[in-house]
This record gives sequence, C-alpha cells and structure tokens, in this order.
Amino acid sequence: MGKIILTGDRPTGRLHIGHYVGSLRRRVELQNSGTFDRIFIMIADAQALTDNADNPEKVRQNIIEVALDYMSAGLDPEKCVLFIQSQVSELTELTFFYNNLVTVQRLQRNPTVKAEIQMRGFNDSEGADNKAGTPVGFFCYPISQAADITAFKATTVPVGEDQEPMIEQTREIVRKFNSVYGPTLVEPEILLPDNAACLRLPGTDGKAKMSKSLGNCIYLSDSAEEVNAKVKGMYTDPLHLQVSDPGHIEGNTVFTYLDAFCRDEHFGMFGDCFHGKKVSFDFHSLDEVKAQYQAGGLGDMMLKNFLAAVLNSTLEPIRTRRHELEKDIPYVYEVLRKGSEEARAVAAQTLADVKRAMRINYFDAGVLDELIREQSEKYK
Ligand code: TRP
Repeated sequence: MGKIILTGDRPTGRLHIGHYVGSLRRRVELQNSGTFDRIFIMIADAQALTDNADNPEKVRQNIIEVALDYMSAGLDPEKCVLFIQSQVSELTELTFFYNNLVTVQRLQRNPTVKAEIQMRGFNDSEGADNKAGTPVGFFCYPISQAADITAFKATTVPVGEDQEPMIEQTREIVRKFNSVYGPTLVEPEILLPDNAACLRLPGTDGKAKMSKSLGNCIYLSDSAEEVNAKVKGMYTDPLHLQVSDPGHIEGNTVFTYLDAFCRDEHFGMFGDCFHGKKVSFDFHSLDEVKAQYQAGGLGDMMLKNFLAAVLNSTLEPIRTRRHELEKDIPYVYEVLRKGSEEARAVAAQTLADVKRAMRINYFDAGVLDELIREQSEKYK
C-alpha cells in the first residue's frame, strides 16, 4: 500500500498566510519530498455550499482564487492532482452510505462543528426563513469529509489543528465500516504543523484566528505595500510604549508571525535596509531579537519593518507566479478539469469496493447470476 495524501480547502475567499503556514507550505514540501505515491488536493466547493446555499456565486468565484493561490504557492499539477469536489459525484454516494454509520449525538459532539455553528449564529433564533437554524448539510459535513478522505484511500491528511475532529470522525467511520462490512477503507493519519506558531496563526489584530470576516488577514496575493500597511497596524505589546521599555514576547503577534516565518537566512538578507530605508538591525537569530526586545531598546517600528521584510521575501515569489498564472486562466481551468477527471476515476474505484463490501453491487459481473440462483432457490 502506497502513501497517499488528500487535503483541501473551502473556496470562500483567497488564501491567507494562516493557510500558508498552517498547511499549504507543508503540502508543497511533502509534494517535493518524493515520499508520497499520490497527492490529491481538493477545492471543497460542495462543503463551502453547506453554509453558502444562497450564495453559490461566491463559491464559484473563489474556485479560481484558491487554484491560483495553490499553484503560485508551489503546488505543481505535474506532481499532484488538483480537483473540484463537486465534480466527483462518487463522493456524495459514499457520504450517503457513511451517514448510516454515524449518530446525530456523535455529530453534536464534534467541537469544530460546534464552534462553527456558534460563530455563524445558527442557534441564535429560530425562523422559517431558513436563515436561522443549522443546515443539515452543514451539520453533517464531517461525514462528507470522511468520504473525501477515504475515496482516495488517503493515508495522510495534512491540515490545520481545527481539522483534528474531522480526521478523528473519519477514523471512526473507517473502523466501523471495516468491522461491519470487512476490510475495505484505509484509516488516515493527520499531519499537523510542527511549529506551535503555525498551528493557529492569529489575525493581525491579535485575535485567535485569522479570518476574512474579522478583517485581520494578510493574503498570499497581497501586494508588498498592503503587507507593509497591515504589519504597521499590527497588535504588539500594549505595555511597550517607549523603545527603551522592556517588551513582552508572549501574546505579541509580531513575534508569533516571526516564529512562523523567520528563518536564519533572513538575517543579513536585507542588508541594512528595510523598504529602502537605512536601519541598523544587527541581529543574527530570532533569539537575539527576542532577547533585545525583552531587555528593552528594540522599538516596535523597527521590529515591524523586519517582519514586513521577512513576509515580503516569502510572498514575493508567490506573487510573481500568481501574476504569471493570472495571464493564463484557460490553463488553470484545464488543470482543474483534468484533475477532476482523474480524481473521479479513483473515487469510482473506491465506491465500487464499498458497494461490493456492502453487497449492494447487484448487477456487477457474476453477481447477478449468483443473485438469481440464490433467489430462485428460495422460490422453488
Ligand atoms: N474542512 C476543510 C476546510 O475547512 C476542507 C476539506 C473538505 C478538507 N474536505 C477535506 C480538508 C478533506 C482535508 C480533508 O477548509
């Protein structure tokens, strides 16, 4: 059995640097490591629709944004299969059978779904206008996610921390399926970011999560000027008023971002200039920067200029590739079309395995003859 990756994102907006350090950067490394036999990267439009039923246009518009972000971040269509979830209809069929293996009570305990229901206010009031209340499809999306993962017999799912409950539910479904119908499905492993700062990158305002609705995101496609402006407005240490004051590292978003992005080669990389301005920033490691900040004598302005330079040096090649790809939209759609076709063939194979295991493959070659024999016997 080979090593197979499946992962993906909902197309509800452009991807931001939280997606990048939480999962995307890792996927690119895994893709280039050569240790995986197959890699499937899915744009989860059907899942996005579970809470956007009245706004399919938003989902439709963002498919290309996510595809552009993926490919500009380094996902290579020669090395992985990029596809659109809704185009693989086998996934909904698998979901339909898995639905029977999960209880409502178990779904109600899924902490991520619980938090999302809270955040979206589905429980706030009840009305007949379909606005209030939790859409059934949304409530059940962990089951459809299990179909996404198992359809490709994925062994490895690189995702952010918030997806842990989904992988756990998938594993339960796999165990249940295999114990009821015989060994058929593969139990996947989650692959989390190894750096704590990457697990859940806070927003630029210091709030727990980077999210479009909170307006605290830095997007992969932001220009250098946008990044500079956003970093300038970032939340730091509210007690660090004067340059000479000792500063705090913990809870200081600028340092969280540096933990996620800064590498040793960033020191010395910018010479003595940030954004063309001459500075004296004479450090050789992030630990030295932290020590100086804690001791006092390192200003927030200087620190933010360094962070902006680090971010821009990471984002610049991504931006450049994006601009190139934006000029060739037909190519991007061709990648998705071909990828969806390929994904569909794989999922169809798994669906056939599932139906065989459940003995609902009545008309498969050989099966019908046996069925006729068996039933005729009964009515003899
Ligand atoms: N739930 C993921 C998100 O919120 C998207 C997703 C759908 C996914 N199916 C998946 C991720 C399967 C990993 C594996 O972005």
